[in-house]
Amino acid sequence: MVNTEKIMHVLSAMRFYKPAERQPCYYCERISAVEKEQGYPTRDGIYTFEKYIFRCAWHSRFSCSRCGNQHHFSWLYWCPQKEELVCGDCNKPTLKPVAFWDRTYAYEFYCEECGEHHVDLFYAEFQGQHPWQLGHQTVRSCIDAQKPWTPIWSPTKQRAGIKLELVEALKLPSRVLQLREDLKITQFKVLRSAVPDEEIDLPEARESWETNTEQWTQLTEGDLNRQLIIDPALWSLLGDVKDLHVLDAGCGNGYFTRKLASKGANAVGVDYSRPFIKYCKRVESELNLGCDFYEMSLTDMNNFESKMFDIVISNVVMVDVLDYKTAFKEIARVLKDDGRFIWSNVHPVFGRTAGAIDPRLPRDSPRNEERYLKMIDRYFDSGGERIDWMENPTWQFMRTLEEYSKALKSAGFVISEILEPRPTPEVIQQNPRHLSFDADRWTHFIIFECIKRH
Ligand SMILES: C[S@@+](CC[C@H](N)C(=O)[O-])C[C@H]1O[C@@H](n2cnc3c(N)ncnc32)[C@H](O)[C@@H]1O
Ligand SMILES: [Zn+2]
Ligand SMILES: [Zn+2]
Ligand SMILES: [Zn+2]
Repeated sequence: MVNTEKIMHVLSAMRFYKPAERQPCYYCERISAVEKEQGYPTRDGIYTFEKYIFRCAWHSRFSCSRCGNQHHFSWLYWCPQKEELVCGDCNKPTLKPVAFWDRTYAYEFYCEECGEHHVDLFYAEFQGQHPWQLGHQTVRSCIDAQKPWTPIWSPTKQRAGIKLELVEALKLPSRVLQLREDLKITQFKVLRSAVPDEEIDLPEARESWETNTEQWTQLTEGDLNRQLIIDPALWSLLGDVKDLHVLDAGCGNGYFTRKLASKGANAVGVDYSRPFIKYCKRVESELNLGCDFYEMSLTDMNNFESKMFDIVISNVVMVDVLDYKTAFKEIARVLKDDGRFIWSNVHPVFGRTAGAIDPRLPRDSPRNEERYLKMIDRYFDSGGERIDWMENPTWQFMRTLEEYSKALKSAGFVISEILEPRPTPEVIQQNPRHLSFDADRWTHFIIFECIKRH
């Protein structure tokens, strides 16, 4: 792992940490820079949640009246009707494209209690609608500070900010150049990140899928990444599948296999996890969509004759397959000549976890611009990464683009297209926090369309 702590420290030492005794509030400083005439006070930063960014009571955390959890101030809104603070986990917001202070969007929440829209505490403060500005002194920040609401600063008049186009609001400035300048560092010290193939515990990798089945079967439409980013791109390549023989390789809970069947394909799903296949068969016996499911490994699909399928689809599976070279060969074998192999995967560059960090400061902030940038290292370390996934540790395998490209070629494929799917601005607006890896700034996934040569 890259030493995140150390990099955080360097970042903060260079940019935020002033070695004076008094720590100014990170947010107050930024606001007062734009609010000079209005005399915005730079309050003392008396709270810190990661030891680097100091924040005043206004800009620390507040407890949600519903779930009781503490959240970054910009992840909560105040309902004046109910007189309660509610967090974005309890009531999902959308993004409101609006320029205020040095920001370009706010979170907006539809409140079922009063039928009105409310905004997060950051934007509310800009408008003069923060509960403390309205005199609701009982609202407490996470630490019960003494009179944190003094001095009560308010804008001279209520303001609405400047309406922006959504695309404009999402265009956050790149931090890379500034960071390079600040750090004056050209090399990071790194440790080894990937575990070589021969050291991977394969039964353990397989078992983790078997223990994860329960949670996966809840995702009847796939997870949000699939729904919002990957699947629309897969379908754009798949086109009309009516009457085609399609294999869903590594079908998991089978949701995609069922989609294929409902669009008229002769759909077959394969997975090496027994609980998944059992589940798929049970659902099929209820729905009768005409799907067939088989428990087998992609590296050994002997039950299938050669040249059976028009299309093989595989949705975020290769990242879990240790012997991807053999899997590619088997997939090529069961495909007809000129048949297509369309597969999505975690992106070899951006999907890395072990050799990458993307620091967010302050760490509890939900806001995109407070994620610094993605730093990637050890790209050539091909092998396994142990990751926490749905509460169970599992293995994922990172390969370079070159390794995938070479393996596809030697299995008899030519790559006809590569997609790097990303959500539309509207999808981001509707799901501001769920696309949490900043899907509009780099891609987390890749999709290959390959054609079997003959
Ligand atoms: C990330 S899940 C994706 C499941 C499904 N395609 C989806 O999109 O929901 C990866 C799946 O690959 C399966 N898998 C991993 N290695 C496999 C192998 N060698 N043979 C067959 N299935 C495998 C796992 O059991 C798991 O169901
Ligand atoms: Zn502050
Ligand atoms: Zn809550
Ligand atoms: Zn309300």
